[in-house]
Amino acid sequence: MRVLSGTKPTGDSLHLGNYFGALKQFVLLQEKYEDALYFIADYHSMTTVRDAELRRRYSMNVALDYLAAGLDPDRAVLFRQSDVPEVCELTWMLTTVTPMGMLERAHAYKAAKDQGENVDHGLFTYPVLMAADILLYHADLVPVGQDQKQHIEMTRDMAQRFNHAYDCEALVLPEPYIMDDTATVPGTDGRKMSKSYDNTIQMFAGKKALKKSVMGIQTDSTPVEEAKDTDTAVFQLWNLFATPPEREDMVERAQAGGLGYGDVKKELLSRILDYFAPMRERRERFEGQPKEIEEILRQGAKQAGAIAEPVLEGCRQASGLGRPG
Ligand code: AMP
Ligand code: TRP
Repeated sequence: MRVLSGTKPTGDSLHLGNYFGALKQFVLLQEKYEDALYFIADYHSMTTVRDAELRRRYSMNVALDYLAAGLDPDRAVLFRQSDVPEVCELTWMLTTVTPMGMLERAHAYKAAKDQGENVDHGLFTYPVLMAADILLYHADLVPVGQDQKQHIEMTRDMAQRFNHAYDCEALVLPEPYIMDDTATVPGTDGRKMSKSYDNTIQMFAGKKALKKSVMGIQTDSTPVEEAKDTDTAVFQLWNLFATPPEREDMVERAQAGGLGYGDVKKELLSRILDYFAPMRERRERFEGQPKEIEEILRQGAKQAGAIAEPVLEGCRQASGLGRPG
């Protein structure tokens, strides 16, 4: 069983949605399965980040977040997507079996188009590159948040179409791995937590910035003495850091009335700080070791490349590209 996933380098540190929806599962799965690959999706970041220095910094940030969260280069292969450029060749092959209609239905493309943005071909093709990421390594299981489910379904579709077109089994169909509880972590405004909505709480933000985000979580105007609806962002976020009995207790307190949103936010802030404290320390240690991190990524790319090579060769042979083998 091979596990694989990736994260786009688009900011200073990952947010609670990335952590609970994806990264936390990456760490758990690295314990469970021997064969796990996690990469920094720097090619994907090109659809939004248009600055070389920024991309380098953001990519380093994802590496730091991976290591800080507990990904271990001795257990999982950590690498930069662009260090195995063969993924671009597979992307091309897959584009030739991908109907336009499939890509036109992709959420990210539809949202950008509906907002009247100038959509470039990169954004349109984004799901094909993502499929190539997964298929190039014969991944079986892909841990992601709910927002990526459609992309995994498309990946399966493309793999099937390629295998069918060339009457081969060159590509393996992957399964998504989505945790129900944390499939969609809400942001401070109650919508999905996302950098593009400017509603994130970052894992490693400074104390002051964290306080500002947490205190800014939108709540309704129910008076303190009245019962509160616990199906709202502030409680859902608090739940991420609580045990099941603590959650039940919180529901009781909320229903009894007398619980202020401010108090819940203060508890949430202190839990976030405590929860991430050991990771924050680890991250600070790694920050002083950029050369070691480069070496980890270099080794990772070597291992990833060795897995990719025969898979790509299988696709080339099946489709009659290059020298006959
Ligand atoms: P990205 O930063 O877009 O590359 O996302 C990295 C991973 O985090 C993907 O698996 C996403 O599905 C996941 N993710 C992003 N936002 C959320 C969220 N609000 N809730 C749950 N998972 C999320
Ligand atoms: N598209 C994913 C996101 O935005 C990141 C990603 C790129 C990915 N390639 C992948 C995730 C392959 C899983 C597998 O979150």
